[in-house]
Amino acid sequence: MNTVTVSASKEYQVLIGGGLLSSLGKHAAALKAPGKAVIISDSNVWPLYGKVAENSLQNAGFETIHYCFPAGESSKTAETYLNILNFLAESQLTRSDMIIALGGGVVGDVTGFASATYLRGISYIQVPTTLLAMVDSSVGGKTAIDLPAGKNLAGAFYQPSLVLCDTDVLDSLPENVFRDGCAEVIKYGILYDSKLFMHLKENGLCFDREAVITRCVELKRNVVAEDEFDTGSRQKLNLGHTFGHAVEKLSNFTVTHGQAVAIGMAMAARTAQKRRICNAHTVNEIQTVLDGFGLPSHTAFSANDLRQAALSDKKRTGGTVNLILPERIGTCTILPTPIENLQSFIEEGL
Ligand code: GLY
Repeated sequence: MNTVTVSASKEYQVLIGGGLLSSLGKHAAALKAPGKAVIISDSNVWPLYGKVAENSLQNAGFETIHYCFPAGESSKTAETYLNILNFLAESQLTRSDMIIALGGGVVGDVTGFASATYLRGISYIQVPTTLLAMVDSSVGGKTAIDLPAGKNLAGAFYQPSLVLCDTDVLDSLPENVFRDGCAEVIKYGILYDSKLFMHLKENGLCFDREAVITRCVELKRNVVAEDEFDTGSRQKLNLGHTFGHAVEKLSNFTVTHGQAVAIGMAMAARTAQKRRICNAHTVNEIQTVLDGFGLPSHTAFSANDLRQAALSDKKRTGGTVNLILPERIGTCTILPTPIENLQSFIEEGL
């Protein structure tokens, strides 16, 4: 097992290793005297891992209850959030109790937001069950729900008390969902770590899971320590996301998040090359790794449609969008771009 300590407004550990789920109770009890533990999960994850989590917590002395909602992004709503809050209130949960988010990014985000706001904040543990949630959404305290106007438009920064990544649960992930998470892993290599990037290039989908997840969490830990509230360097984690979210949205989410981020990263690289921010070798390296993971790098949507969709993204600041562009593998830059110039940046990336 590897341990990464995150130092933000709260200090907490991220544990990474095989078989960790069965020690959830032990780790939870080390944080708080056992009382009630509410496990919040979804209809995909609960049948697979609910019992293991529940037994582990009960063996450590917790009284467990659970709340399960339908799996999928369509559940990341105000309705689900309010239903969870009502469930917590009806279960008479107090601040000395604990919430466990058992699932992927949707479960983690909505449970984190409920934990941030129920009784003005109650301790929660993230138990991510997808690669994407392990390397990104479970670490760093971003919690959110979607609004009809867009993704993640309501939320809070609220750090968990512990993150427990059981790498064995990745075996049950459908391959396309695993691949989706790989796009975020590749993103860390492009942003910060050429050695990680080379490992991914050489090993493809057979990369060393424990080592790679640990490295991604270390890199995210560094970012969160420097810019917890996302006013500066944390924005680099949006590499591939401005163009990617536009593709995702225009496709009505038939292009998955990971595929869209892959397309967005490839577009960012091509734009950067045309602007002489990076060279052709960097573009080719990114293309080669995306190909190696079976991830796409092009979209058929027009620059005009992509611009319109990108402008509704919450990452826009007034009249400017901060584009993240690679300089070389392991180093990227934030380029504030006036929205009137956005279309030509997109055209260059297509
Ligand atoms: N998912 C991007 C961030 O945590 O800032």
